[in-house]
Amino acid sequence: MCKRVCGAILAMAAGLCAQSPKYHVGRAPSPEEIKAWDISIPPDGTGLPEGKGSAVEGKELYARRCQKCHGSKGEGGDYEQPIAGGKGSLKTPKPLKTVGSYWPYATTLWDYINRAMPFDMPETLTHDQVYAASAFVLYLNGLVGEKDVLDAKTLPQIKMPNRDGFTKDPRPDIPVPARAKKGS
Ligand code: HEC
Repeated sequence: MCKRVCGAILAMAAGLCAQSPKYHVGRAPSPEEIKAWDISIPPDGTGLPEGKGSAVEGKELYARRCQKCHGSKGEGGDYEQPIAGGKGSLKTPKPLKTVGSYWPYATTLWDYINRAMPFDMPETLTHDQVYAASAFVLYLNGLVGEKDVLDAKTLPQIKMPNRDGFTKDPRPDIPVPARAKKGS
């Protein structure tokens, strides 16, 4: 049964792949268009843009655009999403996972704020504002000083407290199975 259904789906998929050039639908994206979508920043910070900001600048921005949902000290607001605190709580019966207690890389914070925050208006912050907001969140977690300037060089250098708190997945990668032989 599965063989037949899966076979049919595969045949359809193969058919679609084979046919799509005939429809002349769409076009290849330009390098500029790909660049506009390709905003991911990996843990090592490759691709972090120019710009800078400290918690001093982030403070005002945070009060205006983040506080209503995350609380004045990052303890969680209307949406009860805490982003600070929880230090040393991960091994207790009530672990509190926050940026400071849980996140392994500060660069991920930049990436996350840049793509997803403010929750109600994502991708509206300038790069300087994202650096400043990241600095303020790290400041609320006691990980940078108020005047420490974050930029593409300094941000990846921050060692987050839980950097080494993750274990590797011990399960081996499953190799892609060889295609089943016809009739097997
Ligand atoms: C309208 C409410 C709202 C506003 C405004 C807002 N956030 Fe958020 N934020 C959320 C919600 C909801 C989540 C959880 C989203 C999810 O898990 O998918 C979140 C998640 C986060 C996280 C990740 C927390 C975690 O541990 O998963 C960070 C960091 C963060 N916000 C920072 C900010 C910053 C900085 C600003 C201001 C520039 C901001 N947020 C503005 C609602 C908001």
